[in-house]
Amino acid sequence: MRIGVLTAGGDCPGLNAVIRSVVHRAITGYGDEVIGFEDGFKGLLDGHYRPLDLNAVSGILARGGTILGSARLERARLREAAENCGELQRQYGIDVLIPIGGEGTLTASRMLSDAGMPVVGVPKTIDNDISATDRTFGFDTAVTVATEAIDRLKTTAESHQRVMVVEVMGRHAGWIALESGMAGGAHGICLPERPFQVEDLVKMVEERFDRGKKFAVICVAEGAHPAEGSMDYRKGEIDQFGHERFQGIGNRLAAELEHRLGKEAKPVILGHVQRGGVPTAYDRVLATRFGWHAVEAAHHGDFGRMTSLRGTDVVMVPLADAVTQLKKVPTDRMNEAESVF
Ligand code: F6P
Repeated sequence: MRIGVLTAGGDCPGLNAVIRSVVHRAITGYGDEVIGFEDGFKGLLDGHYRPLDLNAVSGILARGGTILGSARLERARLREAAENCGELQRQYGIDVLIPIGGEGTLTASRMLSDAGMPVVGVPKTIDNDISATDRTFGFDTAVTVATEAIDRLKTTAESHQRVMVVEVMGRHAGWIALESGMAGGAHGICLPERPFQVEDLVKMVEERFDRGKKFAVICVAEGAHPAEGSMDYRKGEIDQFGHERFQGIGNRLAAELEHRLGKEAKPVILGHVQRGGVPTAYDRVLATRFGWHAVEAAHHGDFGRMTSLRGTDVVMVPLADAVTQLKKVPTDRMNEAESVF
């Protein structure tokens, strides 16, 4: 069998672990050939690819980013790929394509699959918001990075009697804010799923200062926003890739708190630090398992599906299930976090 693999969308710790696992399982388990397309679907359309053998993937398990490169592609070019998928498959002589990516990539994978390309998807995102899988690799790393940041911010906040507003990633779902906020013991957590009241945060900080705890750390997801009438804030605009870009809730909230409290409040925007660097052990293991199962699925002709973690098992689910709606933080998870502020 000849397998094509690509990584598309935003990068994520663990992508290289999947590529490595696909290559190992395919070559040593089945004697397959593997080629890797460069820069996501762009490589597939433009003919940029390279053979992947065991040496090509040696030493990449713990490396962040992706050795194949990644890119976001305009919808029109993705449609071009779907329309020409038979031709593309013949051109490269591939029996299956394994795209590794987030919601956009899985939607594109479904388009290709519906157009007749044999596809086995592997979901990834640090945001952990893909439905039809309990976890995506990259999330654990992002939470670990954000938790360490909160730990560090607490000591400097306490030294200077300041409020720190740490903004983490999560455009539509607040999983990173929820779990890093809980693990780091943030004093407030703001998620896209539940508009926050600035008054509640002001009250929380004042109560802490009154009982002698003269600092506070608030963890806010980039997609979080205030409740109507609570604070002026304009949500983002849609960029050329169809993604909502936010105006910086961390900066805005810190300024508002400083103004209302009359105390210093500093914003810290973690940004892409959460996406770079070495994956945690958990993410390496999940990524490796996803790669292994993707090759198994390819050999069973299990196309139009993606790998998914259900409990502790990796199973195959239809790509259609992955892209219908995003996995949001449920109310009971938010309530659990609030009970320990
Ligand atoms: O979807 C993953 C994600 O990390 C989001 O949390 C974030 O908003 C976005 O990617 C940033 O993407 P870019 O690399 O385009 O800035």
